[in-house]
Amino acid sequence: MFHPKLFENRNVVITGAGRGIGLEVARQFLDCGARVVAHVGRPGERALPDFLLEAESERRAALVAADFLSDEGVENFAEAVEDRFDAVHVLVNNAGTMVGRFAAGDLTDDQYETIVRLNQTSVVEVTRKLLPLLRAAGEAAIVNTVSISAVTGGSPGSAVYSASKAFVSTYSKALARELAPDGIRVNCVSPGTITTDFHERYSTAEKLEQTRKSIPLQRLGTPEDCAPAYLFLAAAPLSSYITGQVLEINGGQLIC
Ligand SMILES: NC(=O)c1ccc[n+]([C@@H]2O[C@H](COP(=O)([O-])OP(=O)(O)OC[C@H]3O[C@@H](n4cnc5c(N)ncnc54)[C@H](OP(=O)(O)O)[C@@H]3O)[C@@H](O)[C@H]2O)c1
Repeated sequence: MFHPKLFENRNVVITGAGRGIGLEVARQFLDCGARVVAHVGRPGERALPDFLLEAESERRAALVAADFLSDEGVENFAEAVEDRFDAVHVLVNNAGTMVGRFAAGDLTDDQYETIVRLNQTSVVEVTRKLLPLLRAAGEAAIVNTVSISAVTGGSPGSAVYSASKAFVSTYSKALARELAPDGIRVNCVSPGTITTDFHERYSTAEKLEQTRKSIPLQRLGTPEDCAPAYLFLAAAPLSSYITGQVLEINGGQLIC
């Protein structure tokens, strides 16, 4: 799709790259010649796809498991990146999920803290830890995954998740200003309703069909619909004058 050498000699770090949107993002960066550190989520959850294992055996990718809800998770992940790279050209903060649907009045402290820690705090921590390596690249890009729900508020039971994505969106805009003098651009990709394990867990078939009918393009999205937006925002030759923006990928579900 993009030129096979677009990210040649570029060091790319992607969190949540073991499944869904992040996995397809990793595939497309590898197809464009990048060296990739792929955070593959929590250890032992499932078999990883052949293309990632092949890339690892050819030393084009390093696969790093880390639970960002554990005490040392982000720290260990950042150390693994530092072991592999002396500069990071692209950071994709994509790990995150809804955790569950919780009615506002029933939400426990533990549920609240889990959603915020995973979707919000870990993004700040990974970014902070990798900032020296991003600065060392001279010209770098951060692309954060947010959500259509950051703008719409999402659907019942997703209030804290949606708000955590709004936090990342605003955080990214502020960082874009702050880091511009360092040559670091910061943008977001905002998926709409994308068919991944996410909706297997949190949405019924009826809800998804209702959503599909409401989308102007009349279909749900796929990871393949989303991934090119990450590469576009990460590639200086394609987007060097774009920073502090949110690219909505939703088939027209949100038009404003
Ligand atoms: N699908 C959608 O419609 C949609 C819409 C808007 C935004 N998003 C966002 O897109 C991103 C990717 O989601 P997805 O659709 O590909 O579905 P997903 O299956 O929910 O992916 C979640 C990703 O986050 C990782 N993750 C979850 N808990 C973790 C933990 N405790 N520590 C470290 N990593 C953890 C997962 O790793 P494991 O492999 O270990 O589970 C996985 O890679 C998320 O940020 C999500 O919020 C998705």
